[in-house]
Amino acid sequence: MNYMGSKKRLASWVLDNSREVLLAEKILTDVNEKIPTFVDLFAGTGQISQAFIPFSEKIIMNDFQNFTYDYLQRFNITETDMTTARIMGNEIILNGIIQDNKEESPFYDWYAGKYFTNDNTKKIIILNDFLHSPTGLGLLESKSKPLWLAMKCMLLEAADKVQNCSSNYSAYLKKIKPSAEKDLVLREVPCYGDINNVEFSILNKDSDLLIENLKGDVLYMDPPYNARQYWTNYHILNTISSWDLNFQPEGKTMLPPMKLRKNSDWSYARKVFRSFTKSLDSKFKMTILSYNDEGLIPTEIIMQEMKQRGKYVLIEKDYNKFKSNKNVERSVVKEQLHILIK
Ligand SMILES: C[S@@+](CC[C@H](N)C(=O)[O-])C[C@H]1O[C@@H](n2cnc3c(N)ncnc32)[C@H](O)[C@@H]1O
Repeated sequence: MNYMGSKKRLASWVLDNSREVLLAEKILTDVNEKIPTFVDLFAGTGQISQAFIPFSEKIIMNDFQNFTYDYLQRFNITETDMTTARIMGNEIILNGIIQDNKEESPFYDWYAGKYFTNDNTKKIIILNDFLHSPTGLGLLESKSKPLWLAMKCMLLEAADKVQNCSSNYSAYLKKIKPSAEKDLVLREVPCYGDINNVEFSILNKDSDLLIENLKGDVLYMDPPYNARQYWTNYHILNTISSWDLNFQPEGKTMLPPMKLRKNSDWSYARKVFRSFTKSLDSKFKMTILSYNDEGLIPTEIIMQEMKQRGKYVLIEKDYNKFKSNKNVERSVVKEQLHILIK
């Protein structure tokens, strides 16, 4: 999935540098030793957790959006279940198209012809109406739970592939773009449920609350760097995830009302410092913060706060910005790994 702030292209850089420091600081005594507990506190699409699989015994992923939580479920889904769910989900969509008229959903009224083509909007409605029907929800309560989770996960990925926006969902395009014209089809997404020597745990909490109850060996943090709120920028995927359509959309972009949106303190200049220092006071041997030199917390403040709490290491790299920022003056930022060893 094309995700704002994704660490896909930086994952091996984060992994290699983190492991080097873990070994240099003797938190790991040899190259074959695994990290007992690795926590990815702002996991998003799970790129960093994925990179750490071969080097960890237990990986805890957390993200406060409901769509990322659904998307991260693929870490516990086996390839067999993914394949079965793909066939089942595509059949449900096909049968629904033949039998049904799904133009009556509010999701159709609000978003068809805007965020998706009319046909693709119908497909989203057909599968989600099934998943949230008594029969569909029955799957969630049974041995077939992984099939439900896999269908939801593939639906999110498939919907995102045919969305009609320039990048994220902050606005839709006036004219349907070529990639949005393509048919929505469920395709298998990479899944890790067949890996038996790593335990994956997926959480859906606000980091500020969760951090108080966590402890472990390595805490990796990739929080928002700026004022753009993730939940709002991905509101359509969050609605497809919750399938709670009991609201009146607001404004031109038809966002759910404020009270339904989750806002992160990490995206408010006046609140971020408190969240940051709280996370540094958590019970981890090593804390790794991904950030950049244009983030809401100035680099000097990060350095100062980390140095007060233990040994500090800074690793930097020039990095091209996310495409939606292409009109801004600087196209290269310094991507940073701030590491604190206690
Ligand atoms: C920079 S992105 C992480 C990207 C991720 N490393 C990846 O490669 O996909 C930041 C993530 O933090 C999440 N987030 C923001 N504030 C949060 C909070 N207070 N608690 C938990 N998650 C939060 C957002 O939903 C978003 O997915």
